Parts: sequence; structure tokens; C-alpha cells
Amino acid sequence: GKSGYDHFMLKEIHEQPRALRQCLRGRVEEQTASVDIGDLADLAPTGVQFVACGTSYHAAMYGAQLFRDAGVPAQAFLASEYATSPPPVGNSLVVGISQSGETADTLSALREAESRGARTLTLTNTVGSTMDRECDHTLYIRSGPEIGVAASKTFAGQLTALNLFSMATAERNSTRRDVVPELRKLPGNVQKILDSSSAEAVADYYEDAESYFFIGRGYQYPVALEGALKLKEISYEHAEGFAAGELKHGPLALVDENTPVFAMAVGDDEKARKTLGNIKEVEARDAPVVAVTDGRNDAERYADHVLEIPETHPRAAAVLGNVQLQLVSYHIADQLGRSIDKPRNLAKSVTVE
Ligand code: M6R
Repeated sequence: GKSGYDHFMLKEIHEQPRALRQCLRGRVEEQTASVDIGDLADLAPTGVQFVACGTSYHAAMYGAQLFRDAGVPAQAFLASEYATSPPPVGNSLVVGISQSGETADTLSALREAESRGARTLTLTNTVGSTMDRECDHTLYIRSGPEIGVAASKTFAGQLTALNLFSMATAERNSTRRDVVPELRKLPGNVQKILDSSSAEAVADYYEDAESYFFIGRGYQYPVALEGALKLKEISYEHAEGFAAGELKHGPLALVDENTPVFAMAVGDDEKARKTLGNIKEVEARDAPVVAVTDGRNDAERYADHVLEIPETHPRAAAVLGNVQLQLVSYHIADQLGRSIDKPRNLAKSVTVE
């Protein structure tokens, strides 16, 4: 049942601390900053191609960035396009990310890769799924069952498991020492957001907007895309996600006082400064700005509303910022009276190409 929540989605959003604890259990050791994912650590890929659809594709974009940051060439592909126009696989490991393990587009991309001699791995939530059975290797995200059509806790699980995977197979000690403690703090930090989020008030304020933009850079870019997908999927409102730097190359023409812009503003480095510049660009066009921020940059000065997240590593900030966006989408959809757990035209598991 829904354990007292109005929708499975809200229940599953609130299950994230537990899902993340499960994902991390026995796999990270803080003292030595070590990561244990068993034999998978031996994979040490020299290249990675991720294939996935929808929310899982956003996780794939994040995963590819993790590997690139570790010096390993990596790319994310939409599974339907991969199967249509497969790239050379070389020695790459091909990783299919899928909550269900049954998505037809992802399955056929994996089969295509396999037929070209690639080693395959699936990152999935579903033990015994077709991908679990067909791929050479599996890394489980351990999120527990997800009933709502909208992926919520499983996206958090995917991002977390991707960190484990990249740390165990590609990353240096120094990175692990920075990241492992922040992963350990994730369940508690997600709980803090769930306990104190002002997302419902923000949703109330903006529920009449015509169109919603989401922007982010680096690890926050896939989160911007995910924020927009979630909102359109469950509220039926128009929403778009962009790389923050891409706005002025076209989409900025659409921005006016009726276009709330949700900006992921995390950290105080060069990336954060550039994103702040993008926030100023939309603010100058009178767009309302909602900053999802850890307070380490000046974003709140230019923002009409702020959704706070605890200070952490940018990779963990992606999980935390996403929780705020999930809550905003949920509350907008709820106020509009939408069928949140079963949006029109959509299925939980898409088994046709
Ligand atoms: O089961 P999968 O992760 O392979 O599903 C992929 C997409 O169909 C899925 O993520 C879809 O985009 C969600 N409904 C988004 O909330």
C-alpha cells in the first residue's frame, strides 16, 4: 500500500534515504575510502558506452561524466538511437542502465553491442530481469520496488551506484577520499531535505506558469533534464531542461516573465560562477528564478525562490538537488489534480521499440 501517502510517487520520494542506505550497504568503507562491488572491480574498462532511455538516460549522462572525469573515454547514448546507428565499440564496456531491466530499446542496444563483441553490464533494480539474465555482468541498485510510473528513488539509486562503479573501476584514492564520505552522508542529507523542503510553496506559487525551464552544468546538467522530464510526465505542463551554457544559443529567446527558470547552483568554483552568469541572463529578461543551491555562491541574490540543499560534493549535490525538483513536480501535478502514479499515455515498463 501507500503507507498513508496520497500517491506511490510521494511514498517513493520519501523512501530515498532507505533506498540509498541499501545501495551503499557493505559497499563503502569510510576509514579507508574503499569501495567493494566484488568482481566487478576487475572490469577496469578502457572505454564505456552507456545506453538507456528516459530517466535512466539522464543517469547514463551522469555516469559518462564520472568516467570521463577519471580519464576514461565514456559516452551516453539514447538506446533507441544506439540501436539505430551503433557506434564502433572497440574495447568499450557497454553498460545498459534500466530500472526495470526490460525496456525494449535498451535491450536491443545491448544485444546489438553484444553481437559486435562487446562486454555488457546492466545497472538495474530488477533481479532476474531480461537484462540481468542476458548481460555479462550486473550491478544492482537495490532501491526496492518502484510502483509509480515516474522514476524517483531509482534515479537516486542509479546515480549512487554509478559512483560506486566508477570509484571501484576507474578512480584514484584521492577522489574516493573526497566522495565516499559524501555518499555516506547522502541518506541523512536527503532526509533533511524531505523534512524541511519549501518545494510545496514554490509549486503553489508557479503552478499557473505556461512553461518551465531547468538549467544546470556538469553533474547538475542531467538533473536539469530529469527535472523537466519529471514535470512534463506527471503534470502535463511544458518543461524543458538545458545545459546552462546553451541557453543563450537559442532557448533564451523563449524566456520572459512567464517562464520560471529552475537553476541548479552548486558550489563556488568556476562552474558555479559560469552558472551564476546564466542565472543573471535570465533574471535580466524578468524570468522568475528558483535557485536550487547549497548557498556557496550568490545564486540566492538573483533568485525569487530558493530550494536549499546541504553543502556536499557536486556529485552528491546532484542527488540532493534532484529531490527538491521531484518535490516541486509532485506538488505541481498534485495541485493540478493529475493522475500522478499513472500518467496518461505512459507505462512503467516500455516493452516495445
Ligand atoms: O526501466 P527503465 O529504467 O529502462 O525505463 C526507462 C524509461 O522508460 C523510464 O525511465 C521513464 O523515462 C520514466 N517513466 C521516467 O520517470
